[in-house]
Amino acid sequence: MKIIAYGNPILRKQSSEIKEIDGEIRRLVGDMKETMKAAGGVGLAAPQVAVSKMLFVVDWSLLENEEIREEGIVAYINPVIHSVSEKNIVDLEGCLSIPEVAAEVMRPDRIEMSYQDLNGGEVELELTGYPARVVQHEYDHLQGILFIDRLAQSERAKIRDKLKDILAGRVKPFDGTQPVKGTSTEPVTYKRPAVF
Ligand code: CO
Repeated sequence: MKIIAYGNPILRKQSSEIKEIDGEIRRLVGDMKETMKAAGGVGLAAPQVAVSKMLFVVDWSLLENEEIREEGIVAYINPVIHSVSEKNIVDLEGCLSIPEVAAEVMRPDRIEMSYQDLNGGEVELELTGYPARVVQHEYDHLQGILFIDRLAQSERAKIRDKLKDILAGRVKPFDGTQPVKGTSTEPVTYKRPAVF
């Protein structure tokens, strides 16, 4: 699938709830997983492939030194973040829809969430640290929020020119035709900032 870029109004829309996990949704999840891998992302939200539905996928296997990496690739349907910690932490983020841009974002360290899995089962989950950050970034996509909206003034000033390049089409996100980085047998080295 083609990943849409910063500037596309679809990235600013509120996503709608998925009423039924049918064949169409399963196909979409499969296509998104493939696209995320091909684009070298840790996560991908449906709005990034121009689908305004409450769904994102994460490839936890790319997160070294995190217990959750054993979960592999997970699809999160109709996710809700119920509570966040008072403690905030700052770390680098990037986004597949905002190529070649990285900046420091402050976010809560811990979240409690629930979501539906592909079988429609309700799952409760608590995440801390970088995994919590990845989920918050994807969850934001479903509400039309981008990580650049959460930057301090000083960070935002640093990326202004890069954003202009994306808006002008000089820098483009993965469009499904660029060569796939690495192969499925080759281990991907996870390096911060990850893009998701
Ligand atoms: Co993103």
